Amino acid sequence: MEADIERVLIAEEVIDKRLDLLARRIEEDFPGEIIQVIILLKGALVFAADLTRRLPRMLEIECLNVSSYHGGTESSGQVDFLDHKLPDVKGRQVLVLDDILDTGRTLRAVVDRLTADGAAKVKTGVLLAKDKARAANVEADYVGFVIGDEFVVGYGLDYQGRYRNLPYVGTLAESAIDPDHRPKAQE
Ligand code: XMP
Repeated sequence: MEADIERVLIAEEVIDKRLDLLARRIEEDFPGEIIQVIILLKGALVFAADLTRRLPRMLEIECLNVSSYHGGTESSGQVDFLDHKLPDVKGRQVLVLDDILDTGRTLRAVVDRLTADGAAKVKTGVLLAKDKARAANVEADYVGFVIGDEFVVGYGLDYQGRYRNLPYVGTLAESAIDPDHRPKAQE
């Protein structure tokens, strides 16, 4: 698996330190409240597991299955909520966690939906934010790292379902890319 990585963009120790800081900010922003953490599957799993364990407080964890990036090739315009039933957020203090902010469509759709469902407060955190104009008007409240507009894997992010378990964020070597399923940023 490691042989498929061209370049390590963000090393494990760097992620660790940054998460400590994000956790402190979140603690300050939700004083004494029971946070309902909503993890966007599957990309935010690793980020959320490491971040929530840095929050020494009562919280509840829910997952949302949202699809916007079909087959790992390109970000489609449509955001689908795939769960039969969404978490009950009425009156809750919600923290949505996603792996990466790209076009912004996913986060925008999720925040709009949770707000419409009656959440009292919705804050958002992403491990990565691509430095580009967003198709949807949204920025995250907590950003781990701003990166260029390139396709990355690792630390939860995948290419065709693989590489999520890499402990760092990196770019894929050309030899690991299926010519018929090129990530959009590499076309
Ligand atoms: P939007 O465009 O809605 O996209 O902000 C967010 C979702 O798109 C996926 N995404 C990526 N996945 N490497 C990945 O593995 C990438 O570079 C990448 N860029 C976008 C991801 O699922 C994210 O939640």
